[in-house]
Amino acid sequence: MTKPLGQSETILILDFGSQYAQLIARRVREKNVYSLLARPDVTIEEIRAHNPKGLIFTGGPSSVYEDGAPRCRPELLEMGLPILGICYGMQIASQILGAEIHPAESREYGRANLTVTQPNDLLKNVPAETTVWMSHGDQVRDLSDDFEALATTPTCPYAAVKHKTRPFYGVQFHPEVTHTPHGNEIFDNFLYDICGCGGLWQMGSFIDAVVEDVQKRVGPSERVICGLSGGVDSSVVAALLHKAIGDRLACIFVDNGCLRMNEVQLVETTFADHFHINLTTVRAADDFLKRLEGVTEPQEKRRVIGHTFIDKFKEAAGSIPNARFLAQGTLYPDVIESGHSLAGQAANIKLHHNVGGLPEELGFELIEPLRDLFKDEVRRMGELLGLPEKMVWRHPFPGPGLAVRCLGEITSERLDTLRQADNILIEEITAADLYRKTSQTFAVLLPVRSVGVMGDGRTYENVVALRSVDTNDFMTADWSRIPYDVLATISNRIINEVRGVNRVVYDISSKPPATIEWE
Ligand code: XMP
Repeated sequence: MTKPLGQSETILILDFGSQYAQLIARRVREKNVYSLLARPDVTIEEIRAHNPKGLIFTGGPSSVYEDGAPRCRPELLEMGLPILGICYGMQIASQILGAEIHPAESREYGRANLTVTQPNDLLKNVPAETTVWMSHGDQVRDLSDDFEALATTPTCPYAAVKHKTRPFYGVQFHPEVTHTPHGNEIFDNFLYDICGCGGLWQMGSFIDAVVEDVQKRVGPSERVICGLSGGVDSSVVAALLHKAIGDRLACIFVDNGCLRMNEVQLVETTFADHFHINLTTVRAADDFLKRLEGVTEPQEKRRVIGHTFIDKFKEAAGSIPNARFLAQGTLYPDVIESGHSLAGQAANIKLHHNVGGLPEELGFELIEPLRDLFKDEVRRMGELLGLPEKMVWRHPFPGPGLAVRCLGEITSERLDTLRQADNILIEEITAADLYRKTSQTFAVLLPVRSVGVMGDGRTYENVVALRSVDTNDFMTADWSRIPYDVLATISNRIINEVRGVNRVVYDISSKPPATIEWE
């Protein structure tokens, strides 16, 4: 892909194993400066190839004096590029520049009071006394005369430093987290004043650049196939490609019978009616349900649905002439986590269910127009492309859909019960203005029945569990603190309106040790 506009202003972020590395990259992009994560041992040539305006060294869990601690090439500090070292990143750079790093006499975890002694430069507009978030066991001691302290905390004499002759700045605290309320100003100062960035990374120009790139790649008689799932990523890919190549985009949407309430209609009205995109809906619910008969084991459900999906998709794709490309909604975190790009090797390789797509045997060339973007940027792009809010802000939904939320046996009757309960949950969460505040909210139909009493009669019916979580990355999550009165309304409505349900429970497990889904 050609370099999107605005990439002339790249900040490279060397990831020393920080849990906040992607957060730093997003904070930089929120300032309209393009950022990329890189391995700590990235070479000078690789850095030059990206022509960055500056570097950020992240924190990390190691101690710089340990064997095997991640290191960067010392020559990086000779390149004349502005560098901001954060926590471990400050320590490693200071060590290369001659400072001594030792275990701190008093370790600092959590909030600390920062006193700014040099209120300009990196700390311009930061109040003289403020709170910062610390998380370190080591600290820089014995800085040479080449350094100047910019701020201190009661136990950390070099909470922020500057090198006197090189454009190196370090902070022992974490400006990227919300617990550092003036982190924003520090990023502004570093990016705009110290690195001289102009904030050119704008979603509108990125869209133009991707459109141009796709137009160059796809020949006038060639077609691109895009599998729609109803989720935000594939929807944005479709809207973007349609802008680039119009009728030469062919979308395939497979109805596997395990979709949410009105999902098929939403996809059809948005893409066929509104965008006039060439859309094939494969109505395969009966086939999926037939193959799922008697299957209760979660991984087996996934396997059956996965294989059936590929069969159906292949069949539909086979009838589209001149299809050379397949468009997929791979995102930047998928690229990082699968060990590709500059961030490869040292990055934690996490195999996640959402990574990966259709098999290579389909023989298409891939177009992945979102592989430079984070999820929040994809949503912004979706809004700019005119996708409905409901689609842009949709919570993630697993590929196997309601099949892994209908615990035990899957029948169309049980799926209907679940769909209705789930729809009420989403309606009420939306009415309470909580949909965008929670990360994933859904209902689960349990494979047990419980005794109840309705009117004068005893009932023996289904139990629905409600699940709602707050999370940044879906790797860890906490259960959402939904107000009791909202839960009460949801429970009342489900029991009154959904036949066959007489009990509703709320799942209060965090991940780990529980997972977000129940199967
Ligand atoms: P768990 O349940 O592992 O889920 O905490 C983490 C995220 O992954 C989604 N998920 C899936 N997505 N196919 C998918 O495409 C799957 O089989 C699958 N299982 C879980 C889940 O919805 C959550 O967002």
